Amino acid sequence: MSVIGCGYLGAVHAAAMASLGHEVVGVDADPAKAAALAAGTAPFYEPGLDELLAAGIGSGRLRFSTDVADAAGSAVHFLAVGTPQLAGASAADLRFVREALTGLLPHLREGDVVAGKSTVPVGTAAELAPAIEQRGATLVWNPEFLREGWAVHDTLHPDRLVVGAGDDEAGRRAVRRLREAYADPIAEGSPFLVTNRETAELVKGAANAFLATKISFINAMAEIAEASGADVTLLADALGHDERIGRRFLGAGIGFGGGCLPKDIRAFAARAEELGKGEAVGFLREVDAINLRRRAEAVRLVVESFGGSVVGRRITMLGAAFKPYSDDVRDSPALDVATRLRGLGAKVTVTDPQAIGNARIAHPQLKYEQDRDRAIRRADALVLVTEWDLYRRELSPEHASTLTTGRIVVDGRNCLDGGAWRAAGWTYRGLGRP
Ligand code: UDX
Repeated sequence: MSVIGCGYLGAVHAAAMASLGHEVVGVDADPAKAAALAAGTAPFYEPGLDELLAAGIGSGRLRFSTDVADAAGSAVHFLAVGTPQLAGASAADLRFVREALTGLLPHLREGDVVAGKSTVPVGTAAELAPAIEQRGATLVWNPEFLREGWAVHDTLHPDRLVVGAGDDEAGRRAVRRLREAYADPIAEGSPFLVTNRETAELVKGAANAFLATKISFINAMAEIAEASGADVTLLADALGHDERIGRRFLGAGIGFGGGCLPKDIRAFAARAEELGKGEAVGFLREVDAINLRRRAEAVRLVVESFGGSVVGRRITMLGAAFKPYSDDVRDSPALDVATRLRGLGAKVTVTDPQAIGNARIAHPQLKYEQDRDRAIRRADALVLVTEWDLYRRELSPEHASTLTTGRIVVDGRNCLDGGAWRAAGWTYRGLGRP
């Protein structure tokens, strides 16, 4: 197998496929990335990935290359390149998908399967297929649903496998080949769904749109709670007991970020408009707007905690990554809040156990301190923006009180025990909580 594109998705996929017993070559145009992976070190933080890489390389089944010609001879080629948001527009930028395919085409043989994993607008496969079919190969779409921070687990034990293929002999043969590729997770019970290519493309966008909507729904309830004196976290607990609703993804706070949800809902809406069905997903603009309002609300709450101005105040941001167990800072709500507070005149220090390297590149103007306790020292306020265990479970208010005389804590993820912090003499504020 070959895996073209070795970022957050492709690197994990390549290592996981090798651990399932396949012979895999990962191809990435970035020499530094390919070299790091070949040495068994992931160029980003993903729990369990280094071990999986080392095992794969050690077994002789996993290698990495910068040359797409090394993909030649593979029976299945997974396309796992990024589809970022187009600069200045909502739509997805498919440049990397097209480039990867153009590079791969001359190396395809009769009977090869190309399996698209990247998140693409519905209709992309139909557009790419003819060039692949001209080479006697077959294109299927096989979206990836992994969560960063859980990527190894999600790839080895997927909650479902979806393969979109043409309804002809070539399509059926390609589906059989993917069934073989995923034989282990299927034997373990992962449902294997066969659809047409359009449905498979749509599943990914729809799943992310649903998740984003769920988060923005509870954040909209947080706005109502703020205006009425209700507590959104208890509201979410009560709602979550209804099995039809469920408690997961009802975490109110500063909202969603990362390399997927924000750009995927925008691309989804942009594609719907192209299809003349913009109205059908008009609510996604609201979902986006609610999400961005929460960042502003977190800033407002911090300013209010200081009585109206943060000028000259020392504020420590606990977290930089868009979520815990990741060093990814793409569209990170944590860094957005940090940047805005700095813009209002606060002296902001950002700490994070994994993401400082990436954060520094994205926002060099911010001040960083790797060590949590040093970052807290002399802070006038703590603002929790990424719910790492280091802050959520392993930082007691008593310990924090020994580090600083500041006594304001703003909980952007509603994950601290507000009662315990108040009992220790802190002013605790959570989003959507009285
Ligand atoms: C998401 C999808 O979950 C995954 O299936 C898809 O393949 C890629 O996009 P990921 O971006 O890794 O995965 O993160 P996810 O765990 O979904 O969280 C996204 C954002 O939502 C984070 O910023 C997180 O902090 C936020 N979030 C999540 C909330 O604000 N509240 C919640 O209750 C849950």
